Amino acid sequence: MAQLIVALDVADADEAEKLVDDLYDLDVIVKIGLESLFGYPERILAYCESRDVRTFIDAKLHDIPRTVEAAIRQLVRPNAHIVNVHALGGLEMMRAAVDAANERASELGCTAPQIFAVTILTSIAPEDLLELGLHGGPGENATRLAALARDAGCAGVVCSAHEVRDLKSFFGDDFLTLTPGIRPSGAAHGDQKRVMTPAGAVAAGADYLVVGRPITQAPDPAAAARAILDEMHAPVSS
Ligand code: C5P
Repeated sequence: MAQLIVALDVADADEAEKLVDDLYDLDVIVKIGLESLFGYPERILAYCESRDVRTFIDAKLHDIPRTVEAAIRQLVRPNAHIVNVHALGGLEMMRAAVDAANERASELGCTAPQIFAVTILTSIAPEDLLELGLHGGPGENATRLAALARDAGCAGVVCSAHEVRDLKSFFGDDFLTLTPGIRPSGAAHGDQKRVMTPAGAVAAGADYLVVGRPITQAPDPAAAARAILDEMHAPVSS
């Protein structure tokens, strides 16, 4: 069953902890992204660990293999469910991340986090790819990078919900997909350019759906998250 990940993209640690508390009773994973990791890393990581809240540490690591390996070792904790890297860091870097997660988890006696690779950011439009010198559309680039991530032993890829069907048909259901750019109908798109609704993403086969602002900026974040969970798990009408 697809799982909901809530992106805690807020500048203030008290606000982030309040969101963790608001969402505590729901079956969600919280995403700790760059804003929290640079702003108040130890505080939010320790808070989630103390409350045994599952985390996706959205570190988007991209560096030489030895540095990524060292960073992963610092991030492995019993409640760290997912950590990610950029596939553009290359095969060897991704392998180093997977190996470091397994080794550190066995030292700590906990389950290793799943290592996901970011293929192409969902905020990147086809014309942005050309500007970067990457030929082909977002889907083609995402598939090529996903193959590299699979060869490196990653659990899956971060991708647009629009790419899930193709990725599943190429790599099979066991290669997982984690999709940001999710917007309930009527919600503002913000800077996301290739969006899909929660029900659409689940129907496409996405394993994890990341939702940030539609939940964190809602007057009642728990109610907004609950509505998305209901939409994700509603029986499909034929
Ligand atoms: O607020 P919103 O729902 O757009 O948040 C999406 C989250 O997913 C943000 O934290 C963003 O950094 C992250 N993300 C993304 N696209 C990717 C990878 C991560 O939007 N390809």
